[in-house]
Amino acid sequence: MTVLPNIIVVGGSYVGVNTAQQLAKAFVGRFNILLIEKNSHFQHLFAFPRFAVATGVDTHKAFIPLVPGAFRECPPGSGSVIRAAVVSINSSSVKLDRSVSVGGQTSDTIPFAFLVIATGTKLTPPSTLPGSEKSDGVAYLRKHTQMIVRSQRIAVIGGGAVGVQMATDIKELYPSKCVTLIHSRKTVMNRFHPKLSEMVADRCRELDIDMKWGARVKLPADGYPTDGRTFNVDFEDGSHIAADFAIICTGQTPQSNLIRESYPQAVDSQGFIRVLSSLQIDDPSLHDVFAVGDVAATGAPKAARPGGKQAEFVVKNIQHLMDSEPLEDYRATDPPAIHLTLGMEKNVVFRNPASGSEEPFVNYKDDGYVH
Ligand SMILES: Cc1cc2nc3c(=O)[nH]c(=O)nc-3n(C[C@H](O)[C@H](O)[C@H](O)COP(=O)(O)OP(=O)(O)OC[C@H]3O[C@@H](n4cnc5c(N)ncnc54)[C@H](O)[C@@H]3O)c2cc1C
Ligand SMILES: *[C@@H]1O[C@H](CO)[C@@H](O)[C@H](O)[C@H]1NC(C)=O
Repeated sequence: MTVLPNIIVVGGSYVGVNTAQQLAKAFVGRFNILLIEKNSHFQHLFAFPRFAVATGVDTHKAFIPLVPGAFRECPPGSGSVIRAAVVSINSSSVKLDRSVSVGGQTSDTIPFAFLVIATGTKLTPPSTLPGSEKSDGVAYLRKHTQMIVRSQRIAVIGGGAVGVQMATDIKELYPSKCVTLIHSRKTVMNRFHPKLSEMVADRCRELDIDMKWGARVKLPADGYPTDGRTFNVDFEDGSHIAADFAIICTGQTPQSNLIRESYPQAVDSQGFIRVLSSLQIDDPSLHDVFAVGDVAATGAPKAARPGGKQAEFVVKNIQHLMDSEPLEDYRATDPPAIHLTLGMEKNVVFRNPASGSEEPFVNYKDDGYVH
């Protein structure tokens, strides 16, 4: 039996799984696709904001087994999943935090013909969970929910999608609690047309959520207390509000450590991986290495859907490299779009206008909750 060369995908979340599936379908019989993920399960992050605040939800459902899930719809034997963290790469192999068995060999180093990095970003819990086991994740989300239940004055810091969804869910589920949505700028959802911020403001007024917008929080180095006592959330302008629980929904840290040490120029000042329009990493020695999804500086909105499009270009460009043909240019042309919950029932599908003069696409709905 001949051993096929590997195409390795690092990161088994929305974009990495999608990429691995497309590769497995395109290159069956020619390459062995290896999906390397450090967590025990695929984490369905979209559900985390609600699963971190609502009781009576089936928290387990946010964790989906990668085996057989990831390659189930792919040709048999075309791909496999390895549980490990990649600690570093070079132009021909990845180094893992543990030894694994691949193709009859046990090693902490796996060679590749092509590599795709889809390691995403890290956020503050509960958006990114501490630990890598499903059981730890389920326990963390449930504990977080219990802290919400017992708190009276909840500060939600950060007016991006996660902050807006959590604040509106909490206030609708627990109307007697005092909820403040805090944001550094005067409008929220800043990647979008200002009309979305107006819609959020209207909904906050409807639910009686306090809005402290245009004020930057001084985050304490050790985090806020979680033992139920009352503390101050301090602002840079000297003001403060009292709270007994705070949720931090700001700041995304790209998970690019695996290349930063050996290829510092391939990482931008914020830590995102620099890519060419072919989606190859912008370093002449990493010709066979691509980056996609949230970790890559592609110019695309940080969402799952653009990553699927990027995966298509990776598949096409790997084929072009093998055929010594010119590569195709990925362009991030889709305008930012989102399906945002504004409580248990109300939600909005919002898409930015393609050009400055047009109006955004808005579909405001109240079908979120099946009784
Ligand atoms: C709470 C929340 C809700 C969201 N809701 C939506 C939504 O409704 N719709 C939407 O489009 N987008 C939503 N987003 C954004 C969306 O989740 C991201 O754009 C998307 O997850 C990016 O996918 P990704 O695969 O690039 O990276 P990530 O999802 O960040 O995944 C990276 C994966 O790589 C793994 N990894 C990292 N480093 C290593 C390593 N060295 N070795 C092995 N594995 C590694 C991680 O464990 C992780 O599984 C939400 C984000 C959050 C945080
Ligand atoms: C990459 O690392 C592997 C394992 O350490 C090594 O065998 C290989 O020679 C390295 N390749 C390059 C091009 O440095």
